[in-house]
Amino acid sequence: MKLSAIGFFAVTSLALAHAGIRGNVIDESGAPIKNATVTVRALPRLVASARTLSDDKGAFDFDKAKLNAAGKKALKKRGQSLIVRKTGFLPETLSVAPNKNYGNITLKRDPIENRIDELMASMTIDDMIAQMTQAKAPATTCGGKLCGSALEGGGAYTADFYTKAWSHKIPVTYGKDNVHGVADVTGTTVFPHNIGLGATRDSALVRKIGQAVAEEMWAAHIDLNFAPAITVPQDERWGRVYEGFGETTELAVDLGAAFVRGQQGDKNDADWRVITTLKHFIGDGATDKGYDRGNATLTDKDIYEKYLPPYEAAIEQGSMSVMASFNQVNGIHQHVDSARLTGILKTELGFDGYVIADWEGIESSTTPGAAGDYSPGLVTGISSKDAIKNAINAGIDLAMVPQSAEAFVRNMKELAASGDISEERIKDATRRILRAKIRAGRIDNPNGPAAYVGIAKNIGCAEHRQIAREAVQKSLVVLKNKKALPLSTNGKVFVTGSHANNTGLQCGAWTKSWQGGTSDIPGATSIQAGFDEVAKGTRVATAEEAGTIVYVIGETPYAEWFGDYRGEDFNNKIINKTDGKVAFRTTDSDIEQIKAWKAAGHKVVVVLITGRPLPITPLIDATDAFVVAWLPGSEGAGVADVLFGKVKPSGKLPHTWPKDAKQIPINVGDGKKGLFPYGYGLTY
Ligand code: BGC
Ligand code: BGC
Repeated sequence: MKLSAIGFFAVTSLALAHAGIRGNVIDESGAPIKNATVTVRALPRLVASARTLSDDKGAFDFDKAKLNAAGKKALKKRGQSLIVRKTGFLPETLSVAPNKNYGNITLKRDPIENRIDELMASMTIDDMIAQMTQAKAPATTCGGKLCGSALEGGGAYTADFYTKAWSHKIPVTYGKDNVHGVADVTGTTVFPHNIGLGATRDSALVRKIGQAVAEEMWAAHIDLNFAPAITVPQDERWGRVYEGFGETTELAVDLGAAFVRGQQGDKNDADWRVITTLKHFIGDGATDKGYDRGNATLTDKDIYEKYLPPYEAAIEQGSMSVMASFNQVNGIHQHVDSARLTGILKTELGFDGYVIADWEGIESSTTPGAAGDYSPGLVTGISSKDAIKNAINAGIDLAMVPQSAEAFVRNMKELAASGDISEERIKDATRRILRAKIRAGRIDNPNGPAAYVGIAKNIGCAEHRQIAREAVQKSLVVLKNKKALPLSTNGKVFVTGSHANNTGLQCGAWTKSWQGGTSDIPGATSIQAGFDEVAKGTRVATAEEAGTIVYVIGETPYAEWFGDYRGEDFNNKIINKTDGKVAFRTTDSDIEQIKAWKAAGHKVVVVLITGRPLPITPLIDATDAFVVAWLPGSEGAGVADVLFGKVKPSGKLPHTWPKDAKQIPINVGDGKKGLFPYGYGLTY
């Protein structure tokens, strides 16, 4: 009794001692630095941190800080560091000691700021406005001046754009959604979509993927990536579930930061570094009923503890671009949410990179709501001008305006002239964009790192394909196995089903087109072809000849709201998009087929290609073994590697698997018992 009471007091006093952390932030002249971000990180992983800001006198005091539960917990942990940062200064890292008054902490001006000053000295306001504009490639001028950036959406790619974009002192960055490889470019390696990487739980592997993607980007002359998505998807009805690593904050923290490390190096210093974009800020995966671009009803606690830590971790890792989200949070569109863009992201987190709008996202902030209603058009009306004013003043720095760059520039000039957008705001936005370009090495070396740029042999090379195959192997989740797996290399297998021999289906969306499709992807290996590679001679041409039937079925590809399910009941149904419209098919015919094969004495293994867990319990019940392959990408042989037991299955569910549609949304910790829990996965 006595002992435990002593223990209790010891713990309590330790906690109180830690809360005494205080000090003063000053610059080299001794002047106080207001609004410096002071963070205590909870190591080893940044899933919780305590954060406060210095006041007018530069003072900070964790005793007086408003800390949430995660923050308080972070303070109690031993061995963390105190990081002090402020845009324009070099960050200071100190070790945390209990009850410590740090006295004066001096931040030195970041030398990069002098370089930005030099670049900006010759820039007019019009130059700066153009720098803030991201047009659609191959355009390089915005209002007659050099654009800051250009992009192309899903499916589009201009191979020689760099010849016009990079021949300047300040190059025009070229952004693409290389969300699972440089998948719009022919012959590249297509990695599993993030949901599959979440199943691997392997941050070292995700880091290797980040580097491989950067190498293929440079080979294809792309220096800006709209990835990683560090969303924490909560509702399986959302059409973008597969773009996230999984339903927990931990997965987005670990794997998001790992991808950034791969793309940029440990200290944003790798030769091959590209600019990564964290998306979509914030709450994209938390919308009501999983509506893409809908409203997320969130408390501050949700934001700070669930959705913000992945941003904090990836920003600390050096990511210099954050994409604002189309969704609203408690009714506020995220492109005009100054409290979160400028308040939380830039001030509280101390993010000194730039915030980029999503595709015509500024325009869409005037008509938020269901994505179906979204109609990007020419931005000419007064409401669009207001939208620009609101978004830029809220904290958007780079406007992704592929369909309205000229109108954006025109409106910006008027807003600058009228003072509706201050010169200070325009300069801050420009500085942020230039800061990112300098850190990424784009100013020192506008033509990019010679060892990587245009190196065609890096595209779809054996080394990258091997990394992708390893990712497929580790992403497979075996949910059921009644003595059907592993397959024997002496047996006979019939590999069939809609997705068995179609590399378009197995790659999913954001591959050769925005929505994805059924055309084969050049250089990719289908799941069926993988069987021949891994266990030559086992595959037979008819069910009758086979001992085991491997039935590969699943969803057809979809991107964004085209993958939303907005009906009441999608029990036992699989998305089956036809003619660009979302449609579903029931699993009845699959179940009949499986039963017939089993009645004829065959074992049946189902391999499911899917971007999310599906409520298809009767189908799973009908099988002998059930394996989820997610959206594996170009290296289909990874599936056979695992089915034949050449590689042991190790994948774990990145989402709770629902019993039926009524359970959705279902997430670990919500008290609901699904068919399989988060983290489930069998091996043999
Ligand atoms: C998506 C973004 C993407 C952008 C550019 C938008 O519709 O929401 O994730 O980066 O398009 O293609
Ligand atoms: C583009 C996508 C973009 C979408 C936004 C499409 O036309 O290809 O990249 O995300 O439009 O609506």
